[in-house]
Formats: sequence, structure tokens, C-alpha cells
Amino acid sequence: MGKSPNVYSFPGVAEMAPTLRQYVLAQQTASIERHGTFRVAVSGGSLPKTLAQALLSKGDGSPADTVDFNKWEIFFADERCVPLDHEDSNYKLLKDELLSKIDKEQFGEPKVFPIEEKYLDDAQECADQYEKQLVSVFAARDSVKLPQFDLILLGCGPDGHTCSLFPEHPLLRETDAWILSISDSPKPPPKRITLSLPVVLHGAKIAFIATGAGKRDIFKQIFETEEGRALPCGLINEGAGDKVSWFTDNAALEGVSVPRRGSL
Ligand code: 6PG
Repeated sequence: MGKSPNVYSFPGVAEMAPTLRQYVLAQQTASIERHGTFRVAVSGGSLPKTLAQALLSKGDGSPADTVDFNKWEIFFADERCVPLDHEDSNYKLLKDELLSKIDKEQFGEPKVFPIEEKYLDDAQECADQYEKQLVSVFAARDSVKLPQFDLILLGCGPDGHTCSLFPEHPLLRETDAWILSISDSPKPPPKRITLSLPVVLHGAKIAFIATGAGKRDIFKQIFETEEGRALPCGLINEGAGDKVSWFTDNAALEGVSVPRRGSL
């Protein structure tokens, strides 16, 4: 991939939020124009909170600056195999931080695709059933090789993991499945499902949102070293080129050698 990812840096999350909003809403507009909906995959961690900061602010009232949640279809980039009201559930996190706070009268209501609780005991079954949900929305597996999310919103773990794709894990070699299961996640809880690397790389746009001085070491690896390029975040950063954007802050990028910008 010839072109480099876009790295945006801000003094902090509050200063980042308006640009993240502008970025997400630009993808919203382009996606609705393309196919009438906006298909988004979200992860856990600090992302739902940051997203809420970006999306729940008032905006200027223009169509380009209005969130049209009725057109959103939200999937989980990864999910833990726990009940939907469990503290470890990414669905619960998104619900608490964002979904429950949407003014539905004014901005509509997204269609959300959580995992199905009846399959929690068997992570592989949970993954297979989630893949079926994707098939029902994107297309039959025999008609498209990979589903294409309009936007995939990701975090970056301190070890360079993203979704539930962990460094050097055999799941990184998967070439066919859309949704994978993992039962030995190095980070608890151990049973999870995740988008596969090919699905992430196929996303129309991919954004990493990762801030704070705690990200400095992993950023140095990802942007400056060969080993870092082989980590899950590095593979996406390299493999998807300028489809990738990083929303980060000055503390995370201090001493990291990568060109950055402060606006879209
Ligand atoms: C997990 C976490 C994890 C998280 C990253 C980034 O399931 O292991 O959700 O993937 O998204 O560690 O976390 P922050 O957004 O809090 O930096």
C-alpha cells in the first residue's frame, strides 16, 4: 500500500473530539450516499466514552454536522463472551457511555448488533452466529468474499493488540473467516469473538483512537520498528495505508517519529 496512514494529534481528548466528530460525520455522509446506511464496527476500552464526547455535542445544526443515528448499524469489532449486562461486556460499555445518552427524538436510534447470549458457553458458536448476523446485513458469504464496514473504530492495547487480535496469535493468520473466536485471550476474560484481520483491512475507513502517555512506548514500536509493524496494530497500519487514521494526543506521540497533523 503506497500511501501512509494519517496521524492527527491534539493537546488532549477534549480538543480531539470536534475533529473526530467531523471525521465520523464525513464517513456517515459518504456511506449514506453510497448505500443508504452507515455500517460501523466499534471496540471497547476508552473508545465508547471518547466517541460519546465527539458525537453527543450539539453541532452547528447543518446537515453535514448532524448525527443521523437512524441510519447507523453498529457492530462490535470484538466482544467478550459474557452476558450483555456483565461489567466486561463491550455492549454494556457502549450502552452506558453512548447509546443510553442519545437524544433519540432529535438524532434517531442506531440499530445495534450485540452477540446472542444463548451461545456464550461456546465461543466458536458465538463467533459463527455473529458471522451469520453480518451475512444477514452485508451479503451472503458466497456473493462477497469479505464484508465492508464503512468505518471501523479501534483502540490500541499497550502490547499492540487491537480488536481481540493479540501479538503472534495464530488468529492473525486467518484468511477466510469473518468472525473468529478466541478462548485463550492473554487479557481477561479469555473467551471472546473478534473481526478477522482481513475484515479489518477491508474496511472503507479504519480509525485508531488512542491517547495518553501510556501509549508512547507502543507507538514508538508501531511507527518506528520492524517488530512493531508485525504487531496487530502495525499490520493494520501498514496493510491498510491511507485508509487508516490515528486520533491521538501530544502526550502519546512525544518522541515518536511520525508526521502528524492537527486538522483533517
Ligand atoms: C480488551 C480491551 C482493549 C482496549 C485496548 C485499548 O478487550 O482487551 O477492550 O482491546 O480496547 O486495550 O484501551 P484504551 O482505549 O483504554 O486505551
